Parts: sequence; structure tokens; C-alpha cells
Amino acid sequence: MTELDKYAVFGNPVRHSRSPQIHTAFAAQFGDEIQYRSVCVEPGDFARAADDFFAAGGRGLNVTVPFKYEAYGYSTTRSSGAEQAGAVNTLSPLTGGQCHGDNTDGVGLVRDMIANLGWTLRDRRVLLLGAGGAASGVLGPLLREKPAALVVVNRTAARANDLVQKFATQGPLSGGGYELLETQDFDLIINATSASLAGDLPPLPGSLLNMRSCCYDMMYAVEPTVFMRWAAENTAWAIADGLGMLVEQAAEAFYIWRGQRPQTGPVITELRQAMEAG
Ligand code: ATR
Repeated sequence: MTELDKYAVFGNPVRHSRSPQIHTAFAAQFGDEIQYRSVCVEPGDFARAADDFFAAGGRGLNVTVPFKYEAYGYSTTRSSGAEQAGAVNTLSPLTGGQCHGDNTDGVGLVRDMIANLGWTLRDRRVLLLGAGGAASGVLGPLLREKPAALVVVNRTAARANDLVQKFATQGPLSGGGYELLETQDFDLIINATSASLAGDLPPLPGSLLNMRSCCYDMMYAVEPTVFMRWAAENTAWAIADGLGMLVEQAAEAFYIWRGQRPQTGPVITELRQAMEAG
């Protein structure tokens, strides 16, 4: 019997990761069977575990919280997107025990909004909530879509200002604390904070939304997040969670590894149904 191509996702916690299901479904679209495992890696053990994985013939590794920064340091070469984000979520082996790092999160988010949801970014006023790893990973791809303005706000204003400085040359970017939001409205609001995880909502005035505002939470769950409920209460034009982004970032990783573009729509539907069935 031929050995299956080996892939994995490293994280902690990683038990609830949907990546094995997503990548297995992608491979099946091409009549292929792969092995894709989720591996819970202990803090401080990332490099050793990755070394072992690639030494055993691993073809590709996804990396999730909290190891995206370590994966950045671990990679020998990096895509410009990974370089800018300062974080890596996709590792591919090179010859001589080296490996290449990519970041597919931002591409995944943008593709979900434009191709799946039919939303527009070009010439729109975009608000990004949060200035942590999730936010910095998507800033470059968002700016590439040429919004009219991109404003980053964060509870700790200094972190938003740091991101603005870092990406300032790439587009109409500004930022600061939540007090900036009192007098502005936005066409697209993206929640890249981890507040939804704790059931919290950043301090958002209802006046943020206009007639065509779309609201996107990078988190996903069976029930709408607090941010999504806030958007509904304030009559957002459209609301989405991050399940499509998860599948799209995986599709980009799959393409990097196997050179094939899977169809994402059926996999998003399948995952949504599985989630709702519990
Ligand atoms: P991640 O990799 O998921 O982005 P992170 O780097 O820890 O994780 O960043 C979490 C983000 O969520 C930060 O922007 C954080 O704000 P601070 O920089 O001020 O900590 C934001 N965040 C978390 N809980 C929040 C809350 N209850 N209200 C507003 N912002 C919150």
C-alpha cells in the first residue's frame, strides 16, 4: 500500500480544530486520500515537534494559536505576507531540513468577504477592531483591496498605533482607541479582537453603522457571537462569522502544498451543518 501524504495542524488547544475535516474533504474532491492530524503541542516544544514532523516526511503543517509567532521564527524563508504579519500559519518543507512560512489568514478573510459573501472593499470605509495577531495578519491583504479608509481601533491604543506605523505606506490607514469611533460610520466592520471568545463586546456606539454596513466576526460558533448580535440589533445590512475565512485560509494552504484549488462552498456548507447538528 502506498503511504498517504502527511499533514498536521499544531496548536494548544487544538482538539476542536476543523482543519483535519476541511483538508480531508479538499483532497477527496481530487480523488485523493491524505493523512491530516491535529496535534496538541506543549508550550516550548514547537520546534522539536515540527522538526520531528518534517523528518518523518510531513508535507505541510498548519499552525494555530499560540504558535504562529514561533512558526515565524522557525521558518527559514517566508512569503512577503508572512513577513509583514510577523506570523506564520502554513509551513512547507524545503530541501535540507529547511522550511518556508506563509500566512494565509488575510487572503482567506478577503476571499470570504468578496467571493463568498459578495461584499465590496474597494473604496469602502473599513473598521478593524483589535490590534493583536489576528488583526496584524489581515491588514496587508485588506489594504491591497484599496478601501477608501481603514481605521484600526484597539482597547490598548498604543498597539493600534504601532500597527498603523508598520503598515502606513500601504494605504489610507489610521487608528487609535475606541473614543475615535464617536463621530464616524463605516461600510464594513471586522471584529479581530478575542473579545467574542469571552462573550465580551468592545465599546461600540450604534452610530457606527450606516445603511449598507456589513459586519464580520473572525470568530465562529453555532450561536451568533455578541458582536454579531450587536450588529443585528443595530440593523446591519449583512452579518457573517469567520467560518468561511477558516475554510478559505485552509484552501490557500492546500493550494500552496498541493498546487490544486479546492472548491470551498460545499465544505463551508458541510461544516455549518455539522456544527449545527452538534
Ligand atoms: P489574537 O492573536 O487572537 O489577535 P491577541 O494578540 O492576544 O490575540 O489579541 C487580542 C486582541 O483582542 C487585542 O487587540 C485585545 O486588545 P488589547 O490589545 O487591548 O489587549 C483585544 N481584546 C481582547 N478582549 C477584549 C475586550 N473585552 N474588549 C476589547 N478588546 C479586546
